[in-house]
Amino acid sequence: MNHNKTWSGRFNEPVTELVKKYTGSVYFDQRLAKWDIQGSLAHAAMLCEAGILTQDDLKLIKQGMAEILDEINHGTFEWSLDLEDVHMNIEKRLTDKIGDAGKRLHTGRSRNDQVATDIRLWLRDEITQIVQLLKMLQTALIDLAQKNIDVALPGFTHLQVAQPISFGHHMLAYVEMLDRDVQRMNDCQKRVNTMPLGAAALAGTTFAINRETTAKILGFDHICQNSLDAVSDRDFAIEFTAAASLVMVHLSRLSEELILWMSPRFGFIDIADRFCTGSSIMPQKKNPDVPELVRGKSGRVIGHLMGLITLMKSQPLAYNKDNQEDKEPLFDTVDTLIDTLRIYADMIAGITVKPEAMKAALKQGFATATDLADYLVKKGVPFRDSHEIVAKAVRYAETEQLDLSDLPLSKLQEFNPLISEDVYEVLTIEGSLQARNHLGGTAPNQVLAQIERFRQKLKN
Ligand code: ARG
Repeated sequence: MNHNKTWSGRFNEPVTELVKKYTGSVYFDQRLAKWDIQGSLAHAAMLCEAGILTQDDLKLIKQGMAEILDEINHGTFEWSLDLEDVHMNIEKRLTDKIGDAGKRLHTGRSRNDQVATDIRLWLRDEITQIVQLLKMLQTALIDLAQKNIDVALPGFTHLQVAQPISFGHHMLAYVEMLDRDVQRMNDCQKRVNTMPLGAAALAGTTFAINRETTAKILGFDHICQNSLDAVSDRDFAIEFTAAASLVMVHLSRLSEELILWMSPRFGFIDIADRFCTGSSIMPQKKNPDVPELVRGKSGRVIGHLMGLITLMKSQPLAYNKDNQEDKEPLFDTVDTLIDTLRIYADMIAGITVKPEAMKAALKQGFATATDLADYLVKKGVPFRDSHEIVAKAVRYAETEQLDLSDLPLSKLQEFNPLISEDVYEVLTIEGSLQARNHLGGTAPNQVLAQIERFRQKLKN
């Protein structure tokens, strides 16, 4: 009885419609078609070199696959759920076109090593693109930082005004995070770029295959050394999703800040209209939808990480159909990440910084109190005492609704007689920034040095 399935010879009845839908993957894994064909062509070339396929077979396979790729690219390829997945759809079409040569393609191979190879080839390419996009976003942040090196805003701890910070310095904190993201993606790509093909179903194959040849054709740097591990390993997918989750977490944190800063309560920045939307009821509204959605979508990517890691946790060796569930989370992670990075770089370029609002916030928050304490330490007062003295001065200024720099010298001297005219240099915001002049500090010349370091790094 033939139910039109590649493996139907063994079965007495066809699967039900619901089971067919439940087990089928073609509606999502068809996006692997290009890489599936790439893998098949390399496999065929290797089989030919090893004398397992003839030159004529190989020629036909190449021709057939070129036509199929064309059909897929033009949207004329007819995907069939009866053929379950991308692999069998393509193989069937090939066989329809070229006959026996198409049927020979699967010699020494299984869908298990085939699918693992396809995902790795696909993900390898996506990571290359993601790294480029991460660098693009870094550049946008660096450009914004450079324009605003001398703009001071309150740095916060506990979301309470802490100390003045260069806006450029603040942006560069995110450039650092993205730098680690680039490193993580590059590192992950090394393990992605390891070839499972040749493991066949799980144990290897009885044919005299040459895995080095296939790896070389496909540009794999390494070859999986254990056939069982080769077909069952999805560590690389989990690692990638973890790295992607961290990118999203970084962008979610930045988004949270942009949202706060755009609220009139802060009023530190404005985000270009093309990234915001209005309200259907409140005519005055301009909502920062894009950063809000980035914050929201971070949850979705973190969810995929949880999904994938849970997918693997109880699987016995080797391949199990569970692994088919790796694709949708991976695809969605890649799509979400790529869209987010693209839109973000553009949004950063469209930010308007409002230095006056930042300055007003600094004045309200006694941001230079630590500078006054440090000033007294430099005059010989032990830090714990100077901390106490300044706390009293802040309490007084607060009741008078004045900033420390607004207090007259005579008043300041009531808190400690060592205070002299030069105190106003440290009480200014500019003085406060300049004073943190060491590696990693917020002094504008340090910020500039970091910008130059990153520009250099991004050239490579
Ligand atoms: N569609 C399957 C997947 O995504 C391909 C491998 C199927 N292998 C099997 N033994 N049923 O994992």
